[in-house]
Amino acid sequence: MTDLPDDLRNSLASALTSARVEVLSASVRRLMDEYRSGRVGRSPILASATDVTAYAAYRMPATFAAVRAALGQLAQVVPDFRPRRHLDVGGGTGAAAWAASEAFPGLETVTVLDQVSEALALGRRLSAGAGHPALRSASWRQWRFDPSGELPAADLVTVSYVLGELPAAHRSALVAQAAAAGALVVVVEAGTPAGHGRVLDARSAFVGSGHTVLAPCPHQGACPLSGTADWCHFAARVNRSALHRRLKDAQLGYEDEKFSYVAAARRQPLPVAGRVLRHPTFRKGLVTLQVCVRDDGGARQELISKRQGDRYRQARDTGWGGIWPPTS
Ligand SMILES: C[S@@+](CC[C@H](N)C(=O)[O-])C[C@H]1O[C@@H](n2cnc3c(N)ncnc32)[C@H](O)[C@@H]1O
Repeated sequence: MTDLPDDLRNSLASALTSARVEVLSASVRRLMDEYRSGRVGRSPILASATDVTAYAAYRMPATFAAVRAALGQLAQVVPDFRPRRHLDVGGGTGAAAWAASEAFPGLETVTVLDQVSEALALGRRLSAGAGHPALRSASWRQWRFDPSGELPAADLVTVSYVLGELPAAHRSALVAQAAAAGALVVVVEAGTPAGHGRVLDARSAFVGSGHTVLAPCPHQGACPLSGTADWCHFAARVNRSALHRRLKDAQLGYEDEKFSYVAAARRQPLPVAGRVLRHPTFRKGLVTLQVCVRDDGGARQELISKRQGDRYRQARDTGWGGIWPPTS
């Protein structure tokens, strides 16, 4: 379960206290329809201050949790990665900036770019109460993607839940700009077949430009799930506040945010041996793992029985998205 950091939860709660629930609910319904439709429009989906508040209330906790989980997996692969400058492209209200400052406490500067001024204004208000100094002093800059432009340089660039809002030709241009600007780039998308498709396109572009794919893949070859009925995705469980439940008309106290992602960098590969692609299944004395493996670049099932002793105990402790076999 991903808990929002206390400072983010408190900032969100106070930003939402004066909001009228019926007004936000109408906005949430419209936004959910828009995002589900996958339509790529000319005008921003977040069309008003109310939309931005609704987004922060019902989506920001989930996008925070997804980016935080992706960065957590990445940090396991590159434990020596200590970014100082973070650039969040299409950052909206700043979910990825919060996730990055939690995953990489050594951040010194944070820059959030977005086309919607109301999203940036809310992001700035939320981060004014942040414990992390780089978030409190973050730069929130209005920016509209320009295919012939370039992005400011950073050690870590995040592009979180943005590509789906752009036409296909602009997606590849944005990925190329992010790759040119960032020492390490992370693209996060919804954990749907379409979201994974956009992540695969970004991954191909990274490999084509000489970057190393660091996570989640254990190799640089073709994704064994591309062209199959399956797709690579992970899940981050996040608590729902009472307001969140009301806005989504939901009963459960949590939700599982499904996400796909790729992280790539201009550095030498430090590949892990394999990545667990599904919830492991447990039967008496037997753990079954679906693993994407480095050796032959394929995805396969591993059965680990109790007779295997330590390996069995490690398998029992490994979850969806974990490294297999685990590194010390
Ligand atoms: C679904 S929101 C994601 C926000 C944030 N990254 C997150 O993970 O919660 C997509 C964001 O991308 C921004 N965006 C989409 N197209 C854009 C463009 N052409 N130029 C600048 N920002 C854009 C939107 O304004 C919006 O804030």
